[in-house]
Amino acid sequence: MKTIGVLTSGGDSPGMNAAIRAVVRFGVRNNLRVIGIERGYCGLIDGAFREMNFPNVAGIMERGGTILRTSRCGEFYTKEGRAKAAEQLRSAGIEGLVVIGGEGSLTGAKLLYEEHKIPVVGIPGTIDNDISLTDMCVGVDTCLNTVVEAIQKLKDTATSHERAFIVEVMGRSSGYIALCAALATGAEAAIVPEIPIDWEKLSARLFEERKRGKINCIIVVAEGAGGAFHVAKNLENRIGYETRVSILGHIQRGGSPTAFDRILATRMGAEAVKALMEKKNCVMTALQLGRVVTVPIEEVLKEKKPLDMNLYQLAHLLS
Ligand code: F6P
Repeated sequence: MKTIGVLTSGGDSPGMNAAIRAVVRFGVRNNLRVIGIERGYCGLIDGAFREMNFPNVAGIMERGGTILRTSRCGEFYTKEGRAKAAEQLRSAGIEGLVVIGGEGSLTGAKLLYEEHKIPVVGIPGTIDNDISLTDMCVGVDTCLNTVVEAIQKLKDTATSHERAFIVEVMGRSSGYIALCAALATGAEAAIVPEIPIDWEKLSARLFEERKRGKINCIIVVAEGAGGAFHVAKNLENRIGYETRVSILGHIQRGGSPTAFDRILATRMGAEAVKALMEKKNCVMTALQLGRVVTVPIEEVLKEKKPLDMNLYQLAHLLS
């Protein structure tokens, strides 16, 4: 293998740049030519390629977002779009592709391999942590730190005014961000799509706590659980607090990556190039019990990542 490509696809996540840097530098150190593909699968279809080398990834590790830019590419969902993409790769002499992104991006990579035999390796990059067979995805840790900082600020206001805040976080159909943010801030409740809520029971508990003297209340709700306004409708006027809603939104996706994300992205970037050189086709890098390994993308996409019920119980036990 002489030439490989790298792209970022789907929602950006902090640490993607660190992964790009590692792919480029590990590739160059192993005598590979590395081509950067702009705007995810859309740029792949259009042939938006640029030569990457050691110096042009200098200073990008600490930057949020992705220097290659990204997209959610409708055309790549079609067979014709993927055929165009495969043709672009062939005519540029790109023999293997590293795809950094979430579940949709990995599905696209798998189809490119199945339909056109293009060797692909995925790196899980998404704030949602909804990809199975890996303990963590690139960007999750930074996102959680951003969310925790925001909730901490809301808690100051909640305490000063003796209010409840219903804080909506991202996560698509996963409750991971909501649950971990609730754990890390000692929130009164985490509302997640994976677990149905008994509104009677929850509002009675919050009301009891208020009567016992609690002066603030933080409820973290995952967007996939119906969102903050849905929760407010079910709890307002029943819990003894004046209530406010706060939707954190895309602030959760930006920012300089934490040390954890930089290191994870770097390890995964190098592992992805290694996997291509070793002809391990259609695999994803994964963090399992502290080690970065590769797992078949097919296995990854077979199951939904389950929410850790022990964490959920712990969060509520300790709140
Ligand atoms: O997958 C990352 C994510 O931020 C989800 O948590 C969220 O549902 C979605 O992307 C938002 O997508 P967009 O930026 O396209 O609105």
